[in-house]
Amino acid sequence: MANTLNSDLEGITVAETRLSQINGEKGELLIRGLPIDELASNASYEETVFLLLNGRLPTSEETDEFRGKLASHRQICDEVQAVLQRAAREGKPAMDALRMGVAAANLGVEEQDLRKDIHRVIAVFPTIVATYWRYQQGKEPVAPRDDLGHATNFLYMLTGERPSEARAAGLETYLNTVVEHGLNASTFTARVVVSTESDLISAATAAVGALKGPLHGGAPGPVLEMLQEVYETGDAEKYVRETLDAGERLMGFGHRVYRARDPRAAVLESAAESFHTEKGDGEFFEAAQEFEDVATDLLAEYVPDRRLETNVEFYTAILLDGVGIPKDLFTATFAISRVSGWMAHALEQLDDNRLIRPSSHYVGETKRSWTPVEDR
Ligand code: CMC
Repeated sequence: MANTLNSDLEGITVAETRLSQINGEKGELLIRGLPIDELASNASYEETVFLLLNGRLPTSEETDEFRGKLASHRQICDEVQAVLQRAAREGKPAMDALRMGVAAANLGVEEQDLRKDIHRVIAVFPTIVATYWRYQQGKEPVAPRDDLGHATNFLYMLTGERPSEARAAGLETYLNTVVEHGLNASTFTARVVVSTESDLISAATAAVGALKGPLHGGAPGPVLEMLQEVYETGDAEKYVRETLDAGERLMGFGHRVYRARDPRAAVLESAAESFHTEKGDGEFFEAAQEFEDVATDLLAEYVPDRRLETNVEFYTAILLDGVGIPKDLFTATFAISRVSGWMAHALEQLDDNRLIRPSSHYVGETKRSWTPVEDR
């Protein structure tokens, strides 16, 4: 007799965690007990990751030490660069390049300690993404600088120029906001991989694959395209109705867990507002806010039994665009942040590990007998 079928695992609890707490009804998110808005706007990314891994905020000495440790693991080897160059030349998407780069991130590294790889895994993500991007633009990669923080160094490697403090702070807010979010699909993937006592690089590689899809991390690029189109036509209602009438989903809306506005949307909305105002295109930002209002009302009309509001991806698109991240790198930038959540979950899984191995219910044919090939 099969157990109840839960093909999407919705509402099924499979792990205890001390990393984040989500209240989907109220639209609240705590990271290690801290409200996301407080953490995201105050912390450096290094402080956030330290908090995730250690359960407390670091002292300033600990922050410096942790920052130095990450900075010392930023380099990627020539062979990984060559793979990224080829991926760029062939027009592979950034997430494919990231997956290839991460998979090879321990080339030339002798140490293979499951837990010690954590700094390297987190540190190489920005280098892989920026190197791919430089090749994609027909430019030489920019080597990482170990005197810059995680967010600043990523922007520096993309352009070869040190970014303004405002841009770096905007990216930092973004990285802090999306670093960890319970058992989303990519984090669950990472936990499944390490539950087999595999390694952290394998977990990160698999998680990149899970994050790539539009139902998870792949939405912000399409969100920006949607907002740009609506900005040009000026007719949000027409766009939303046409999308929903065609049976398509509106990108940047809805969430498996939230039945309220995603709390990360508010954090990113206020950070995005600063950027677009500073950049002098506050009009685009305001149009996005208007679009949100129109779309939320229409979603309530079309899908009355489900409260659909903006998720994290909606204002991600606007903030990342504001700080100068190319649209094609939106999901990869999400991965640059979320890899720390994956790693923290991987360590939590290993601390009290049991192989994750659910069951399936067989619904295929039975009682068949072998047919020789000439009789088929
Ligand atoms: N636009 C229109 N209808 C929607 C949307 C949407 N964005 N989201 C859900 N619905 C409808 C859906 O059509 C369904 O109705 P029906 O049963 O009649 O087909 C109903 O709401 C329930 O949808 P569901 O697929 O059972 O809900 P879910 O929990 O699987 O959905 C989701 C979560 C994020 C996959 C979905 O809301 C979606 O596809 N959103 C658009 C893509 C998007 O923004 N993705 C980013 C997700 S947030 C970032 C992250 O977690 O990584």
